[in-house]
Amino acid sequence: MRTIHEFEVKNMLRMANEAKDRAYAPYSSFRVGACLKGASGAYYMGANIENAAFTPTVCAERVAMFKAIYDGEKAFDALAIISDSKEPIVPCGVCRQVLSEFCDGDMPVICASKDGEYTLVSLADIFPAPFSLRTR
Ligand code: THU
Repeated sequence: MRTIHEFEVKNMLRMANEAKDRAYAPYSSFRVGACLKGASGAYYMGANIENAAFTPTVCAERVAMFKAIYDGEKAFDALAIISDSKEPIVPCGVCRQVLSEFCDGDMPVICASKDGEYTLVSLADIFPAPFSLRTR
């Protein structure tokens, strides 16, 4: 896994925690905040946005990622996520596939509990075999 300094981890968790306040989660009451750092040095925040029909719900990680891609970001340094859970959460399977489209396997993913306790994993640790069409 690429190294990430502790001050950067704390910085990104602070931003992810602020992003969590922007969640729209009236159905699950489970708020998630994400902070994605682009290679440009810019940070992209996201929060989950739910829908009455449930399946259109978008996770915090994908909100952050799609904002970044739309803004022209091409590569990523790290992702931090935080929720209202006492335990650190990890990105869902759909978000792992989306992350794998744009991020290297050695990218650090900071998974935090609501109190800021965190575990560090690489994207490849949690998603070792992404589907890709790049082999065509
Ligand atoms: N959620 C995220 O935002 N990120 C994840 O990685 C897992 C789940 C959201 C989706 C839904 O709004 C709520 O958490 C409960 O599943």
